[in-house]
Amino acid sequence: MNDNEQPSGLTLTGVGKILGGRTIVDDLDLWVGKGELVCLLGPSGCGKTTTLRMIAGFLTPDVGTITIDGADVTGVPPEKRPTAMVFQNYALWPHMTVFENVAYPLKLRRTPRNEITARVHEMLELVNLMHHEKSRPARISGGEQQRVALARALVQRPAVLLLDEPLSNLDAKLRVRVREDIREIQQRLGITTVIVTHDQDEALSISDRVAVMNAGRIEQYSTPTVLYRSPATRFVGGFVGAMNTIRAELRTGADGPVAVVGGAGLPIESASATTSGSGILGVRPENVLLGAKSDGAGATIVRAIPRGHFTEVVVQLIADTEEPVELRSYIDDRSPVAALGAGDQVGVRLHSVLPYDENGVLR
Ligand SMILES: Nc1ncnc2c1ncn2[C@@H]1O[C@H](COP(=O)(O)OP(=O)(O)OP(=O)(O)O)[C@@H](O)[C@H]1O
Ligand SMILES: [Mg+2]
Repeated sequence: MNDNEQPSGLTLTGVGKILGGRTIVDDLDLWVGKGELVCLLGPSGCGKTTTLRMIAGFLTPDVGTITIDGADVTGVPPEKRPTAMVFQNYALWPHMTVFENVAYPLKLRRTPRNEITARVHEMLELVNLMHHEKSRPARISGGEQQRVALARALVQRPAVLLLDEPLSNLDAKLRVRVREDIREIQQRLGITTVIVTHDQDEALSISDRVAVMNAGRIEQYSTPTVLYRSPATRFVGGFVGAMNTIRAELRTGADGPVAVVGGAGLPIESASATTSGSGILGVRPENVLLGAKSDGAGATIVRAIPRGHFTEVVVQLIADTEEPVELRSYIDDRSPVAALGAGDQVGVRLHSVLPYDENGVLR
């Protein structure tokens, strides 16, 4: 690839958008490889939908470039772009049948009638809805409506498929099933896909890579595993999965690394904790290990919350600090502290820690 050649898939380079006098998307770079599924994940108002609308062409960036499979589409109107969008509310036509809804974009493009029939049937087979081709949207379930919307997008054979919170109108169980369906179809077709969501569970479970957005920027762009294990900032760590944050000093003791908090020393098991000095430590609840009183730093159980297949235990460190220091841990029935409750004393060790500097960036 030479300098002015763009890679295949989707690229956003230095994209920015100001709306209502505020910077909503700020100097954003993103590359989605051909056939990859990427989620834009972030809190409400961080600019996810705005970014997706610029990719689809409903909004034009103030600065920056968007390319699809090497072609610059920045100024190209939505209907001329090789993109198709699935909206949160599905936006199906209530007076049309399922077949007519899926056929609609092809009719707009004056596709010959027999080709329309063949392509619509192919898509309805794909999403498993042939038996509903004559039904109207109001007569089918939410999950089925979602699949009609997906079929209507895919029938256009877009190079890039865009979905904005596609599962938010479905109940929890159905959401898991439909997201697996979407992933399966996406992989079968090998279609480059961008999904907007604020649900971290959804993003982690179906994506090749996740772009975590905060205030119009991407804070980290990685695979789900890297994102969870090595969140680059405190924001990412707190947004993707649960994380304890404590102010501590890392030292190397006689028995290995220790996090010192108000005179209490929390032994750290993982050898990777080689950083020293004071700062903020991020600790995932599964890395807070509770044991017998003598085993690690002393703490008192504040509360134990049954969560089904595990128990969430909140302990307060016995330490000389201005504010009480609480740590959240997950334990199962086999834990040595499983029989204990509020007020009981335990020992705390840490499996691994994430050291952050004062700006919240991983050291
Ligand atoms: N046309 C507009 N004029 C002014 N402000 C806008 C406009 N469109 C969006 N915004 C603002 O831009 C910010 C980002 O909006 P956007 O819809 O991209 O967020 P989002 O990340 O999709 O959030 P959500 O998860 O709530 O859907 C919000 O504060 C929103 O109010
Ligand atoms: Mg949105």
